[in-house]
Amino acid sequence: MKINANIFVLFSAVLTPLCLMAAHEQRAQFLPGQVWPDNKGVHINAHGGGVMLHEGVYYWFGEHKIAGEAGNNAHVGVHCYTSTDLYNWKDAGVALAVSEDPASDITKGCILERPKVIYNKKTKKFVMWFHLELKSMGYNAARSGVALSDSPAGPYKFLRSLRPDAGVWPVNVTEEQKAALKDIDKLKGKSFSGGPNSETPKYPILARDFTDGQMARDMNLFVDDDGKAYHIFASEENSTLHISLLSDDYQSRAGKYVRLFEHRWHEAPALCKYKGRYWMITSDCTGWNPNAARSSVADSIWGPWKELGNPCVGLNPHNKLGPELTFGGQSTCILPVAGRKDAFIAMFDIWCPKDAIKGVYVWLPISFEQDRFTITWRDAWDMSVFEK
Ligand code: GAL
Repeated sequence: MKINANIFVLFSAVLTPLCLMAAHEQRAQFLPGQVWPDNKGVHINAHGGGVMLHEGVYYWFGEHKIAGEAGNNAHVGVHCYTSTDLYNWKDAGVALAVSEDPASDITKGCILERPKVIYNKKTKKFVMWFHLELKSMGYNAARSGVALSDSPAGPYKFLRSLRPDAGVWPVNVTEEQKAALKDIDKLKGKSFSGGPNSETPKYPILARDFTDGQMARDMNLFVDDDGKAYHIFASEENSTLHISLLSDDYQSRAGKYVRLFEHRWHEAPALCKYKGRYWMITSDCTGWNPNAARSSVADSIWGPWKELGNPCVGLNPHNKLGPELTFGGQSTCILPVAGRKDAFIAMFDIWCPKDAIKGVYVWLPISFEQDRFTITWRDAWDMSVFEK
């Protein structure tokens, strides 16, 4: 008995650390829809995220969620992780912290979603934009936040929040939309659902927000080959997407934007450029509940954009959801893989609004065809898919 007990103690002394190590072992593949441990063995906490490549290192920024429904508000800020292979991620800490100051726009308890970071070569600054809802105002503020850092992982300093493009008409404005400025008093006190309905299109929401700035919710950033950067966001009560040129330092607006997919309620925009054309994934507008993904293409970022339909194919075996519900997910970013020509990864979130921290990630390769692209479910995959 004594010997057996000693053997047991010896085995546990050796095996327990080995088991713990297994949680942090190096990964060599993606496992969409499953818990994704970081270098400490903790599930990655970077929801609604985006990935930036800088000097050979990938930086994944996303919403740091806490447990429970409380996690749908920002109690910590934007979390950053780093990687050189995209499979293994190291916790780089909180890149942008929410403020303890109740007077700050990003005070603890605000809603801070879909943070994205881009690097400005001229100023050598890292610029973060995010969707911001002021504390205790639900989703009514519909603002964009801007933060700045000298180093990629932060810390980022909050600069300001704003309603974009105040006092500017879109490049594709109509005379009728401009003339509606005289009718905006009719909208005083009127509220909209923020989701698809037949009422919203009857009201001149663009004109209503002309003076104080357009609404900006789900968003993304895109830097083109010429260094120009664009802010893409769900505007006009989520009914219409805007693509807006940023200033040369990426910290404010250049004063030029276009309205897209009028009254089609596209959300969760994610963009890439492939073979000289612009390709976009979006979702429909159903809050935290999944819906069917959408895809579109354009020869110029200013449009015209053409809708291509749902790019998803296959079934997520973990929740049994297929393309009609985007495997249970919603798009957040398209990530170009460094050093591999024409290799792009579509990133989605499977939200868990009842216990926000438990949201998982779905990363899948994009397959381009002549005039469309598809995103096929894979239980497990690695970069070799891009070699075929
Ligand atoms: C989704 C949006 C998320 C979050 C959520 C809140 O449509 O994509 O980022 O805002 O609504 O209900």
